[in-house]
Amino acid sequence: MNEHNLISRAQQVLRLNDAGDFTKPSLGQYPHQWNWDSALIALGWAHFDLPRAFAEVRSLLAAQWRDGMVPHIIYPTGASAYFPPPEFWQTDNLAHSGSIQSSGLTQPPLIATMVRMIHAYTRSDESRAFVREVFPQILGWHRWLHTARDADGTGLPCIFHPWESGADNSPRWSPALDRITPTDLPPFKRRDTQFVSPDERPLAPDYERFVHLIDLGRRARWEPRTLLEQMPFVIQDVMLGAILHRADEDLRALALELGEPTQELDAWLARTRENFDARFWDDARGLYFDYDIRAHAPIRVNACHTFAPMFAGLASPAQAARLVREHFDNPDEYAPSDNSRFSLPSTAKHEPGYAPRRYWCGPVWIQINWIIAQGLLRYGYGAQAEQLRRDSLALVEQSGFREYFDPRDGTGCGAVEFSWSAALTLEFLNQGKSNG
Ligand code: GLC
Repeated sequence: MNEHNLISRAQQVLRLNDAGDFTKPSLGQYPHQWNWDSALIALGWAHFDLPRAFAEVRSLLAAQWRDGMVPHIIYPTGASAYFPPPEFWQTDNLAHSGSIQSSGLTQPPLIATMVRMIHAYTRSDESRAFVREVFPQILGWHRWLHTARDADGTGLPCIFHPWESGADNSPRWSPALDRITPTDLPPFKRRDTQFVSPDERPLAPDYERFVHLIDLGRRARWEPRTLLEQMPFVIQDVMLGAILHRADEDLRALALELGEPTQELDAWLARTRENFDARFWDDARGLYFDYDIRAHAPIRVNACHTFAPMFAGLASPAQAARLVREHFDNPDEYAPSDNSRFSLPSTAKHEPGYAPRRYWCGPVWIQINWIIAQGLLRYGYGAQAEQLRRDSLALVEQSGFREYFDPRDGTGCGAVEFSWSAALTLEFLNQGKSNG
């Protein structure tokens, strides 16, 4: 397929999933608004419809809670056949919740980075006014992440549910989930296997734990302090921490341009730099591992999140070199090998939890490829970044804009006509233009 064709097909996917001022990740499987999806989708819209990109960001921020959180699922158009429905979260009428129905969880904060990129593409009075408009809300969300989710004074945000990581079903969460026995499960009926084959979705015992954790959250009335005291799943997530640091950096650049003070942002940036390595870096293995606050121990699972610190500039050149040489380029872990043609498997191929078609246990995701490619470029690994770009484009050409792909042969998995796969195709193609 030629490039022109791919662009118009990607644009069609966004138009198809366009619900007015937000974009559904996919019509059947995900018929509401998701946080980090919307951020990435806004970047896609910015390539052909700037007002629509602004609308995407505004609709996401309109759901912000009074305490600053920007929720992970937002239901601007009410219930659908999707589980969990809005009322399942019991977030209505809390003193600190927002005015639009939503989940009680959050997701990786990509919005500042996307707003900065969109503004850099446009550099117009209009986009500057837009940055001014959204800046205070984004700052409020970052403040919430650094405080309400600070479990130990490091300011490294913790998550209370695997869904907050965005990597919902990663084997990274298994050790913590295995310690949890769901009790008094509220009645529920899964819907995620209605559109997608069960062997590409989470296993039943994991799904029960997901629901159990929601139930505990609602019993705590989604109060951050209570959650911190009571939740059995409290994890400092490398990727979320890295994305927040990158977003702080981007927000700082926007603050400078707007003439806003930067002291608070400077302090967050410094504190993260100070604490990140001690908490996450494993020098023996040359990998970043998540940290389980309840178990007081790192989670030694080798998965794609380990490259995220490069996106944030948090790795030293020596750490980046180890990540690339010992892991990214290693055919036993991430590099192509005889039975695995496409980069980047979301879990290292030699991990016991690796499963090439199961959600987050091995399949390639276009948004992860994009995030990691950005990190590789930042450290001068142009060939590796280009490999991720090329494979991402080859996958969508071969199998369509699917949610994820089997790294062995590129078979499309999960939901179809997936918005961020389309949005990032537009971004990757645009990047190709500027590189070439
Ligand atoms: C899945 C993904 C999550 C994403 C959501 C909507 O739950 O794991 O990252 O935001 O789908 O696409």
